[in-house]
Amino acid sequence: MTAKIISVINQKGGCGKTTIAMNLAATMAMRHKKKVLVIDGDAQASATKWASCAPEDNQFPCSVISLAHAGNKAHRTIATLINDYDLIIVDCPPSTEAGFNASALLVSDLAIVPIKPSSTDLWAIDGIINLINAATNTNEKLITKIIPNMCEPNKRLSGSIIDFCKNEESIELLTSRINNRSIYGEVALSGSTAYVSSNQKAKNELSIFADEIVELVY
Ligand SMILES: Nc1ncnc2c1ncn2[C@@H]1O[C@H](COP(=O)(O)OP(=O)(O)OP(=O)(O)O)[C@@H](O)[C@H]1O
Ligand SMILES: [Mg+2]
Repeated sequence: MTAKIISVINQKGGCGKTTIAMNLAATMAMRHKKKVLVIDGDAQASATKWASCAPEDNQFPCSVISLAHAGNKAHRTIATLINDYDLIIVDCPPSTEAGFNASALLVSDLAIVPIKPSSTDLWAIDGIINLINAATNTNEKLITKIIPNMCEPNKRLSGSIIDFCKNEESIELLTSRINNRSIYGEVALSGSTAYVSSNQKAKNELSIFADEIVELVY
């Protein structure tokens, strides 16, 4: 067993990094039977708190550890864990300054960048592109994909995000979309995920997302 490593990353705060990381982790564990570790890279400890909200008799289906204080040495610790899991998902903190993000990218197979398509978030993407381009110089296997998050259901994706990806060599859009659904916020508070909720639409989009990621990294 050698873990694939996925960093969920964007310096923009609130774009859905933790939501995507936790829902993808649980979907990979339950749907694809992967042994998954979530690494919480954020000093706000959102992923750690999320998992700790789960009841004793219905625990979060993945291990969660914090490396928020490992800074630019995070990759060393991550490298020591790859033989114990099938998949390691890193929930990155919202900044480019912290050495953590660059460190996580050094050992990642895939960087997933959540973006709210209908907002000014696209203007803030330069920082993450620079970080990814720098990481690719030393980590040639790194691939980078955008996941449009908080999309309006039944609406086509705005042209601006599609045009943007056409102009960027290093970054492509996933086919999957995650829509804006209140279930994503609700389940977090009980340490759960939309994959095991009664919201079939959310469960379906998470399944399609996880299946696309499996195709990419395994
Ligand atoms: N697809 C979605 N539908 C509805 N709400 C969402 C969705 N994705 C995220 N949210 C909500 O948006 C808020 C921010 O999400 P989240 O904490 O995952 O972002 P983040 O990028 O990890 O933030 P930070 O930069 O602070 O770490 C949360 O309240 C979350 O519940
Ligand atoms: Mg977060």
